[in-house]
Amino acid sequence: MAINLAILGFGVIGSGVAEVLTENKALIESRIGKEINIKYILDLREFKGHPMEHLVVHDFNVILNDPEVSVVAEMMGGSHPAYDFSKACIEAGKSVVTSNKEVVARFGAELQHLAAEHGVRYLFEASVGGGIPIIRPMMHDLQSNEIVSVSGILNGTTNYILTEMIENGIAFGDALADAQAKGYAEKDPTADVEGLDAARKIVILAALAFGTILRPEDIHVEGISSLTLDDVKVAEAFGASLKLIGHTERVDGKVLCMVSPRVVPKRNPLSGVSGVFNGVLVDANMVDKVMFYGRGAGKLPTASAVVADLIDVWQTNAADVKEVVWTPADPISVADFSGYACRSVAIFRGTAESAATLSAHFGGAEVKAFPVLGLLAVMTECLAEAKADALTASAPVPFVKRIRVLD
Ligand code: HSE
Repeated sequence: MAINLAILGFGVIGSGVAEVLTENKALIESRIGKEINIKYILDLREFKGHPMEHLVVHDFNVILNDPEVSVVAEMMGGSHPAYDFSKACIEAGKSVVTSNKEVVARFGAELQHLAAEHGVRYLFEASVGGGIPIIRPMMHDLQSNEIVSVSGILNGTTNYILTEMIENGIAFGDALADAQAKGYAEKDPTADVEGLDAARKIVILAALAFGTILRPEDIHVEGISSLTLDDVKVAEAFGASLKLIGHTERVDGKVLCMVSPRVVPKRNPLSGVSGVFNGVLVDANMVDKVMFYGRGAGKLPTASAVVADLIDVWQTNAADVKEVVWTPADPISVADFSGYACRSVAIFRGTAESAATLSAHFGGAEVKAFPVLGLLAVMTECLAEAKADALTASAPVPFVKRIRVLD
């Protein structure tokens, strides 16, 4: 007997899921030993002329009330109604797989508990890192380790933009338009550019690492919109690349989670992650550092991760699985960002004549001068946020900005 599936949302990823299931049908069916049938596609649009046009329904209740549908793939994007539909499906005894990081970050803990209660699965491999296997390795393969930190390039759109700026001197707007045309960007690319998409992903990784899920709006988030080609040149002078990094670690036993642009020295493998590619570097106490790398956005890579979850659901008896469940963060478990410490590249307006005074202000640190740009830059020692802010603000030359280093 065939297994019936419904796809919620037939956009870039939803149609990609149908494509992966069609293209690799024989292979997937041989792996699960059953025939797969896409029974419904839920979308507001009609898709006239599409070979799956006849599967399109507009009423979610058709899917919810069909007992033959045992699993739904939610690819709608946004919180509502994606969360509401996921919840209703789980309560109706249907497993849910999703690429929707917004729902996983905001409601993941609740939906995990609900799935456990109803004996079904809630899986979200595609929610972080697109096609990169990262969720399942963190849930399973790294279980014998205590996680020390996770750092990642988690947004393909911004990494694509930064790479175009670094390698080709392409303007921000043109690179963004290109990323949108290639289907990498969010519906509203502000979420990409201002770091919110990466924030959703790092809270998910932090939850996998430390068991506590923070709210994306409660963490420190900076995007890439204030970065310039001058910053790219300064980073290069320090032998480093500019990247948007999601980072989580424990500070005084509490979970710290943040997103910000970083100067990433070439010795860090994340510095070589370019274009739409994502990279996640996990530091764990037994295995040491492990790097995950691949396409972080795009139709088929992301869809392949969704289908991997479907295969997991189809191959496994939910009752035999002890799924990970997260605890929502409370103020006691969240680290104060002001306690976070790292090195920074601090940039100032000034000429080479001021270099010695600036160096003295930073305890003799080397100052690099950029005469054509009218800038000076210094690599600070590892300083806590408040100390770094105070030191840069009191410098003898006008302060421009500080970009944290990812060592
Ligand atoms: N907009 C996201 C990105 C899509 O660019 O990475 C994948 O989550």
